[in-house]
Amino acid sequence: MTALSPVLKQATPVTVDHGAGCYLYATDGRRYLDFTAGIGVTSTGHCHPKVVEAAQRQVGTLIHGQYTTVMHQPMLRLTERLGDVLPAGLDSVFYANSGSEAVEAALRLVRQATGRPNVVVFHGGFHGRTVAAATMTTSGTRFSAGFSPLMAGVHVAPFPTAFRYGWSEEEATDFALRELDYLLTTLSAPAETAAFIVEPVLGEGGYIPGNTRFFQGLRERADRHGILLVFDEIQTGFGRTGKFFGHQHFDVRPDVITIAKGLASGFPLSGIAASSELMAKAWPGSQGGTYGGNAVACAAALATIDVIESEGLVDNAAERGRQLLAGARSRATKAVGDVRGLGLLVGTEFTTPTGEPDTATASTAQRLAHEKGLLLLTCGAYSNVVRMIPPLIVTAEQVDEALDIWSAVLDEL
Ligand SMILES: Cc1ncc(COP(=O)(O)O)c(C=O)c1O
Repeated sequence: MTALSPVLKQATPVTVDHGAGCYLYATDGRRYLDFTAGIGVTSTGHCHPKVVEAAQRQVGTLIHGQYTTVMHQPMLRLTERLGDVLPAGLDSVFYANSGSEAVEAALRLVRQATGRPNVVVFHGGFHGRTVAAATMTTSGTRFSAGFSPLMAGVHVAPFPTAFRYGWSEEEATDFALRELDYLLTTLSAPAETAAFIVEPVLGEGGYIPGNTRFFQGLRERADRHGILLVFDEIQTGFGRTGKFFGHQHFDVRPDVITIAKGLASGFPLSGIAASSELMAKAWPGSQGGTYGGNAVACAAALATIDVIESEGLVDNAAERGRQLLAGARSRATKAVGDVRGLGLLVGTEFTTPTGEPDTATASTAQRLAHEKGLLLLTCGAYSNVVRMIPPLIVTAEQVDEALDIWSAVLDEL
């Protein structure tokens, strides 16, 4: 008998039969309020009728039009449509399948465009599981241990993780920028540094938003040294944070963004966007792949963008995000060290009475929530942060429903 490899670590024992909106229905008949959204993917909810219809129509028309062999209409239409939502100036896109591939595509682009070997990433960042992306991932050794050697040319600078340092946001930002300057003086000369690659909100690293002064500090240094600024928007893009892209909270211009997850409501589709001037510096033929820009995924992405716009999901993420964050804060008990977030990315960090990361309590909270019908995930280096990432269609009543369950969980801990 064949079995699934134990290399997969399951967060819950649930086997899903079907999903609809913000709910998942298990094979045993139980209904779960899904505040994981497939790790921030099903932003339009499970099986949104418009996404289903677009995908079904495309399946009967063309499933796979391999994009280095032929062009197909869903990809061309999506490319044009993305022009309505991408940040100004990022008018050229390349498609792949997963977030990790998009990160690798960005890495290839910045190295080819600058002719420089190194990139700087920020401590606590998560960029994926392929070897290059895992090298750039510093949110936990579990993502890179056991298959070294990793890729050369990656340097790590601090992110302003104020709560972890026990500092104010200002102090943490001063420290992070000072250390970045020190890194550029001692480890990676600017002339050898292709890019800074950073998440607007650390995702896997513990749901920690960056801040305006930090990101503008990166931009200023990037401009001074001819370094490119890449925002990894794989988790924060497509409305998740209450703006279309996460970096837009911080009044900062990216050179490249990576996109995936919420882009196609669950179909595997990712990409990078940059200016056509920058993209023209990539070596032709150096990027591609069998499945990139799949026709069904592109059709689903077109429908997804329509739904995000027609249902006002970016504004809903902002409003429901405020409700969720305030609700999670007001319910925090002594076991909770910090509650933070941006839009519909809300994390509750569990700490011991002496302020140490409390992995066991976070794990128990996540299990109790699942037992009470609310699906949640953990994150953070110590897996001591419980994160809430509902679909962007979530209603005020569903946020209250989740918060009621969450209260009961915290009471029971
Ligand atoms: C910010 C960020 N970058 C990259 C990735 C990797 O994406 P994938 O798992 O699709 O390879 C993720 C996935 O969680 C992510 O959140």
